[in-house]
Amino acid sequence: MSRYLITPLFLLLAACASDSDGTKRLVDMEDAGTEDMSTQDTSTGDTSTTEPDCVPVESQYDTVVSPILNQYCAECHGAEPAFGAPYSLVDGYADLVDGPEGERKVDAMLSELMERTMPPAFSQQLPHNQLDTLVGWVSCGLEHPDPSDGLEANRDVWDTGDTPPAGTEPLEIRPDPQTIGPNVIDDYRNFNFSNLVTEDRFVRRIEPIIDDSRVLHHITFTTGSGLDVTYWYAWAPGTGAIEFPDGGMRIGPNDSFTLQIHYNNGAGVPDAVDTSGVRLYLGDAIGTEYGMMSPTTFSIMVPPESTATATKTCTATMDFDIIAGFPHMHEIGSTFTHDVLRQDGSVENLITLTGWNFEAQYFYEMPVRVNAGDQLRMVCGYDNPTNRMVTGGQNTSDEMCFDFMIVVPAEAATQCGGIF
Ligand code: HEC
Repeated sequence: MSRYLITPLFLLLAACASDSDGTKRLVDMEDAGTEDMSTQDTSTGDTSTTEPDCVPVESQYDTVVSPILNQYCAECHGAEPAFGAPYSLVDGYADLVDGPEGERKVDAMLSELMERTMPPAFSQQLPHNQLDTLVGWVSCGLEHPDPSDGLEANRDVWDTGDTPPAGTEPLEIRPDPQTIGPNVIDDYRNFNFSNLVTEDRFVRRIEPIIDDSRVLHHITFTTGSGLDVTYWYAWAPGTGAIEFPDGGMRIGPNDSFTLQIHYNNGAGVPDAVDTSGVRLYLGDAIGTEYGMMSPTTFSIMVPPESTATATKTCTATMDFDIIAGFPHMHEIGSTFTHDVLRQDGSVENLITLTGWNFEAQYFYEMPVRVNAGDQLRMVCGYDNPTNRMVTGGQNTSDEMCFDFMIVVPAEAATQCGGIF
């Protein structure tokens, strides 16, 4: 058995497990090639061997796997199976891996989880990171659920090809090699970077550097902090580069940035060392300057086991063009709509998303002109399956409602400030 290894990512502003300074490196164009996206080789070979290709690591069973099975599966797959479930899934490690490959309980779990048939639709679903962890474990890190399953958007993802613009130089933003131990689950590491340039430059393109895809879950590249954070780039499986048509976003000697990497070693691989990050392509500060406008509201209150919306409206004070936008919510986001309410009473939609998935966050094309006096109205929808109240905030378990929009002229970015 072998498969594509697609690495997961998701985006969140989460409590960081560790902070450290990263390093920056200027590299030659030759070295700037695409990193390994890790297609794992598959042995097509003979299935008569008794030794299974994948034996999930035992050391994670008690600490990681058993708690997930107890919470999300044991209601039916308990020691005494109930509600028609065929067998127990909580009889211990040996029981799950017993038998010939293809007929073990772990093999059945993998196909049920990948097809999203378990847990059944009417019962409590696994949060995405626990689903990833469980799938990673039963497949020895070979499989990952497609995070964009179920996501519907009425705009195209903004993806800008493979070739960096002529006359630019790459600047790699990546941490010193990070060791990701076999028991590391949901570890958010933040790396701070400053003094990246000695004079003003334009960032013409940003692309991901994918190093050890077995443990890489997500990458974000932001400036500012706390409630004032602005996203410059975020990576999820499938995310491409972003590139400005001409010119770019200004970066100066005093600007500082945070690279956040979320690691998840659900498969318990013993030798993971990662130095993933982002690559900026810098050019002279000439041509069009773009800005990042970030309307947001933190007035979010979603009662237990309920749905709710949060709305941000603001009135444009100048004419500007939107190039692309990056809707951002956390775990319980469900829908996202952003409209322009014209002064003549008409409504133009910027974007509508349904089936929000925390792991599948992208910049979308939004080629819309906004005129002074138009109103922008952003509505974030939430669906809270938990038994606690969820409010706006910066932790993983809090919610957010943002649309990071690339706008021109750059001065337009200061509109719609404030967190209410
Ligand atoms: C609400 C009850 C319920 C929950 C919760 C539940 N299951 Fe099931 N499961 C069933 C039933 C009923 C069947 C048998 C009928 C079917 O396949 O739909 C089943 C079948 C299975 C099978 C066997 C499929 C086969 O044909 O061999 C596996 C494997 C499985 N579930 C895994 C899981 C896992 C993993 C979880 C937790 C993440 C889970 N289930 C949670 C009810 C449940």
